Amino acid sequence: MANEAPTYQRLGALKDVAAFRAYLRANEIDLPCEDAVVSGPDSPLLRPVTVDGLRIGNRIAVHPMEGWDGTSDGRPTEATFRRWRRFGQSGAKLIWGGEAVAVRHDGRANPNQLCIGPNSGDDLRRLREVLVEEHVRTTGLAEGFVVGLQLTHSGRYCCPNVKGRMEPRVVYRHPILDKRVGVDSDAAVMTDGDIRRLIEDYHIAAKVAADAGFDFVDVKHCHGYLGHEFLSAHTREGDYGGVFENRTRFLREIVEGVRSVAPKLHVGVRLSAFDTLPFRPNPDRSSPGKPGPGVPEPYQHLLPYRWGFGVDANNPLEMDLGETIEFIALLGRLGIRLINVTAGSPYYCPHVQRPAFYPPSDGYQPPEDPLRGVARLVDAARELKVRFPDCVFVGTGYSYLQEFMPHVAQALLAKGWVDCVGLGRVVLSYPEVLWDAAHGRPQQAKKICRTFSDCTTAPRNGLPSGCYPLDDYYKGTALHGRLRAAKAAKSADAARSAPGD
Ligand SMILES: Cc1cc2nc3c(=O)[nH]c(=O)nc-3n(C[C@H](O)[C@H](O)[C@H](O)COP(=O)(O)O)c2cc1C
Ligand code: SF4
Repeated sequence: MANEAPTYQRLGALKDVAAFRAYLRANEIDLPCEDAVVSGPDSPLLRPVTVDGLRIGNRIAVHPMEGWDGTSDGRPTEATFRRWRRFGQSGAKLIWGGEAVAVRHDGRANPNQLCIGPNSGDDLRRLREVLVEEHVRTTGLAEGFVVGLQLTHSGRYCCPNVKGRMEPRVVYRHPILDKRVGVDSDAAVMTDGDIRRLIEDYHIAAKVAADAGFDFVDVKHCHGYLGHEFLSAHTREGDYGGVFENRTRFLREIVEGVRSVAPKLHVGVRLSAFDTLPFRPNPDRSSPGKPGPGVPEPYQHLLPYRWGFGVDANNPLEMDLGETIEFIALLGRLGIRLINVTAGSPYYCPHVQRPAFYPPSDGYQPPEDPLRGVARLVDAARELKVRFPDCVFVGTGYSYLQEFMPHVAQALLAKGWVDCVGLGRVVLSYPEVLWDAAHGRPQQAKKICRTFSDCTTAPRNGLPSGCYPLDDYYKGTALHGRLRAAKAAKSADAARSAPGD
C-alpha cells in the first residue's frame, strides 16, 4: 500500500510514567524506568565517577554535536560559540568532544566543519573557555568538569569544499555504499602511505588539543567515518586490513603517537559498537517527497557479509558483539577506559543511530518502534559494561525518551548498566533537561526534543544544524524560512549527496 507509514505511540501523548511503563510492557520492550526521579544530593545523576585519575563530577554527559556553522577555513563562528555555551548550561560534568573536528581539511564532512589549522590553538582554547564559564555559571564550580575534543577524518563521507560535492576517501570498496557516495574506482581508496601521513595529523591535532587545555581527545571510531571503517576492512590488503590486528593498527598507531606528543592527555573512543545493513525507503511504499518505511538493501548475494563491524556475518541485521568485546579489551591494553557507546551511522541506518519519530528529509519512515532502537543501544552498552566493569561507558540514544528520559536515565544508573547518560539532540533544544530533573525542577515540556529531525535535515539541505522548531535562535529567522523552502523543494538527488555528522 503506497505511502502507508506505520504508526507508533507518540510518547508526548502518554499521560504519565505508569502509562509509559504499561506501553513498554505491552510491546515487550525491555527498558528499565523508575517511577520517581530523585532530586538533590541523593540523585544518581549527580554522583561522581572516576576513570584513570579523571574525576567526572556527575553522570550527565553531552555528546559531540556538530553544527555545520564554522568558517570555510574551519574556524568557529558566533553560532559555534553559542552552541558550546549551551553545552555548558547543561550542567553535565562530561563534555564528550564538543563536536567532530577534522584533523585536516580533506577530512571534513562538510565545508563548514571545524578543522585543525593555524588558528586552532587559540580557537579551541576560547571554545573551551566559554564552555567552562557557562558550566560554572550553571553548577557553581569547575571541579570535576572534564572536557574532550572529538578528532575525526570523515573518510567515505568527506565533503570538504563545496556543499553537496562528496570527495570520499575510503579504506575499502563497499558493494552497497560506494554508489551512494560516487566511488566508482580504486582512486578513492587510501594507500597505506596516505594512512600513515594521516596518523601524523592526528598526533598534531592531539597536541593542539592538549595545549588548548582539553582533558582528553576522542579518537572517533563511529558512524561510518574513517576510524569506524577500518574496523570492518576485512577485504583490504596490506598493513591496515584483513585480520583484527591490522584493522586496529590505525587506532594503535594514533594512540602511540598521542602518548608521546601529549603524555598527560587522556584518550577516549566513541565507538559504533554494532551495526546493521544500509537501509533505504521501501521503494514499493514510497512516492516523491514521501519516503516509505526503511528496509535493508538486498544482501542475500553478499553473504557471508564482510563489510560490517559488530554484525553477524551470516545475518547482518543482527548484532554480534564478539569483535567489539575484543576491541574494548584492546582499548584496555592501550590504557583507554573511557568509551562512548553508539551504533551504526546516520548516513545508512539512522533509525539505529538516532531513533526518531519523524525521519530526516533523506531518511525513511521508522521500520520499527523507535523505542526498540533505544532499547537496542541500551542493551549493547549494558552487555559491554558487564564485561568491562572498570571502564566508564557513556550511553547514547536517549533523546527519543522525551518526558521519560530522566526516569530511564536514573534506572540505568541505579542498575549500573551504564556510567554516564549522554545527551545528543535534546541538548540542542533543552540543554538543562537532566540538570532540572536532578534538582527537582519540573520538566519544561515546550523545550523537550520531539525528534522532528530538523537538526539533521538542515545540513542535508546545505544549512547549519540547530533545533529549528524549538530553539528561539532559529525560529522565525531567514534560516528557518530557507529550511522550510528547502524541505518543500527537496530533491532526492540533493538529499543523497549531502553531509551527515
Ligand atoms: C545535529 C547533529 C550533530 C551531531 N554531531 C555529531 C558529532 O559531531 N559527532 C558524533 O560523534 N556524533 C554526532 N551526532 C550524533 C549524536 O552525538 C548522538 O549520537 C545522536 O544524536 C543520538 O543521541 P540522541 O538520541 O540523544 O540524539 C550528531 C547528531 C545530530 C542530530
Ligand atoms: S530539531 Fe530539535 S526537536 Fe527536532 S530532533 Fe533536532 S533537537 Fe530534536
